[in-house]
Amino acid sequence: MPSLHPTRTRPLRHKTRWNAIKYSPIHSSNHHHHHHHHHHHHHHYHHYQHSSLTTAMLARTINYLAPAYIILLSALFGVKALFLHLCLPPTVSTFRNVWFSLFWQYVGTRFFFAHDQPSISRINSKCRGKVLDVGPGVGATLKFLPRPPLVTHIYGLEPNIHMHAQLQKAIDDEGLTEVYTILPFGAEDVDGLRAAGVEAGSVDTVLTVRVLCSMNEKFMERAVGALFESLKPGGEWLVYEHVRNGKCAVSASLQEFYQILWPKTFDGCNLNRRTGEILLKTGRWETNELVDLEEEPWTIMPHVWGRLVKSGE
Ligand SMILES: C[S@@+](CC[C@H](N)C(=O)[O-])C[C@H]1O[C@@H](n2cnc3c(N)ncnc32)[C@H](O)[C@@H]1O
Repeated sequence: MPSLHPTRTRPLRHKTRWNAIKYSPIHSSNHHHHHHHHHHHHHHYHHYQHSSLTTAMLARTINYLAPAYIILLSALFGVKALFLHLCLPPTVSTFRNVWFSLFWQYVGTRFFFAHDQPSISRINSKCRGKVLDVGPGVGATLKFLPRPPLVTHIYGLEPNIHMHAQLQKAIDDEGLTEVYTILPFGAEDVDGLRAAGVEAGSVDTVLTVRVLCSMNEKFMERAVGALFESLKPGGEWLVYEHVRNGKCAVSASLQEFYQILWPKTFDGCNLNRRTGEILLKTGRWETNELVDLEEEPWTIMPHVWGRLVKSGE
């Protein structure tokens, strides 16, 4: 099977731009040497160095402030959700579910999508046979799934029922109606899974894309355990998740800081989860192809992605 991971030639627009900045000769000794000559050429060169440095610092600053901006944006959707919620039973979890469904309908294919899309399309395209699509949300990434006969049945585990109408529309639009079943509960509901006909050891692919960040800490272990148990020996777990930053202390600290509000504004999402490590501990894997996505080390939303293959006993 071909590797999941991108080659350097893959056209990731922002990546190319930042690589160009990183490799620009900011510390070139050449520059200092010839400073007194002061040709036009050098002048231009100097200007270029200066602006790329400024741009890099600007990008980094924007990155550090982005969570505050997204939290504020989410608050606007919170106001909208409050009005909608007035006609629904008044429980906090329902309100957060309504709120997040409105927010994600808007944001799920905008903000991070240009960044996420190349990886998600690659990950989704590896699905085969009987698939557990964990937390499909409003179905923003369904279009990247293979069609039958490559996949035989897809179970979409989506506990937020306020997303189901949009999700079903995406299923129908993508021509997946015959093979896609929405299950209205989370991955931790083992009995629900078995009652829906998903036997232990029967699943070819578990797909977790932008979802493990959102699982409730209380049943995280049970949920990933249930998914692991559902996989066949040799079955594949495909992953694309944002995780704790382990490369930059500033980003890691900011993740902790934003984490105070983050789960409240994004229906339980965590900015600082060590998802890769959690998955590796979950069971015995015969292949581990989880890697860090190539991103700036200072990003506030670094990703882990790739696949794990369950041991064949
Ligand atoms: C950030 S959204 C992502 C939706 C979709 N995967 C995407 O990439 O557009 C996270 C989704 O995970 C769902 N979720 C949260 N806890 C879950 C659980 N325990 N089991 C399954 N899905 C869950 C949420 O309801 C939400 O729809």
